[in-house]
Amino acid sequence: MAGIKIVQTAHEVPDKVVTNDELKQYMDTSDEWISSRTGIKQRHVTTTQTTADLCGAVADRLLTDAGWSADSLDFIVVATMSPDYMTPATAAIVQHHIQATNAFAFDLNAACSGFIYGLKVAGDLLKGGQKRGMLIGGETLSKLVDWQERSTAVLFGDGAGGVLLERVSDDDPSQFMSSDLQTLGELGGRLTAGYQPLTSPFATDDTDAHQRYFEMDGRAVYKFATRDVPKSINRALQAVDKTVNDVDYFVLHQANQRIINQIAKQLGLPIDPFLSNVAHYGNTSAASVPILLDEAVRAGTIQRGQLIALSGFGGGLTIGTQLIVF
Ligand code: ACO
Repeated sequence: MAGIKIVQTAHEVPDKVVTNDELKQYMDTSDEWISSRTGIKQRHVTTTQTTADLCGAVADRLLTDAGWSADSLDFIVVATMSPDYMTPATAAIVQHHIQATNAFAFDLNAACSGFIYGLKVAGDLLKGGQKRGMLIGGETLSKLVDWQERSTAVLFGDGAGGVLLERVSDDDPSQFMSSDLQTLGELGGRLTAGYQPLTSPFATDDTDAHQRYFEMDGRAVYKFATRDVPKSINRALQAVDKTVNDVDYFVLHQANQRIINQIAKQLGLPIDPFLSNVAHYGNTSAASVPILLDEAVRAGTIQRGQLIALSGFGGGLTIGTQLIVF
């Protein structure tokens, strides 16, 4: 059996930072409300870069930092819920940008769990015989936000992060461990964005135009995340005879600091092993886990040989956990 290793991490965010105080120009809100409810202090918002631009910058950095040539890649997967186009896929634009002529490329959408679902898919491709892959989570959620709607606009940000993955031998100390994916489609209506209306002359579509933007039952999503993420983490741990006490760090989707605090509590752990950067970026959906992972690796917090639990949750509703020995 082949093993799978994360060889390199990288991230990219737009230059423009929008603080909570700056949002007061556009909606009736305050730093006090946003900070106390979510832990978010600022977010990066794109002015020119598209999702594909951000992902392309991540791809460039990954290859440069790892010293890999683009033509050594077998595949590229981009997890996104805010692609530039329905077609071509963001991953195909990235493939052209880096000239990865030997790689097949496709997008995957599992909203805020997208990067975790991507790890599962990429891991299975590598187990199935591919040798090298690139997985990026990238979003420009600022285009899916109604900037007059304070209950959602304050939560989201733009960015991208990614990893290079390689098939390695079983005795390599870095390995993918278990994964746990779950989808609760019956709760899909609790969090929607980007409705695509029927526009043909034959269609009748009376859906309100505003469904283009985020609509969320915040309380329901909060309840779902704090109830189901701990279960997913425990299932993934049980599958490899581990417990939460064996985990060195938890890299959770960065939606809200209160959700992270509550998950730590549910798991009976102190907050220390739960890494967080939600204060700086807000919720960047599929990008949040790889951005946090890259920051922690570059800071020397996450090191080779540590057991890391990566977990995402969000639209779908979806949940996913991937355990790795980094
Ligand atoms: N500024 C000021 N007041 C606000 C704002 C704002 N930005 N937004 C809402 N309010 C007001 C509301 O209008 C309401 O006022 P009212 O009582 O007069 O009606 C009051 O604040 C309380 O609103 P609630 O929605 O009850 O606030 P709550 O404490 O539930 O917090 C929050 C809202 C932060 C959204 C919370 O429910 C939450 O974190 N939910 C999880 C959502 C989430 O993380 N989603 C993303 C995960 S999925 C994905 O990543 C795509």
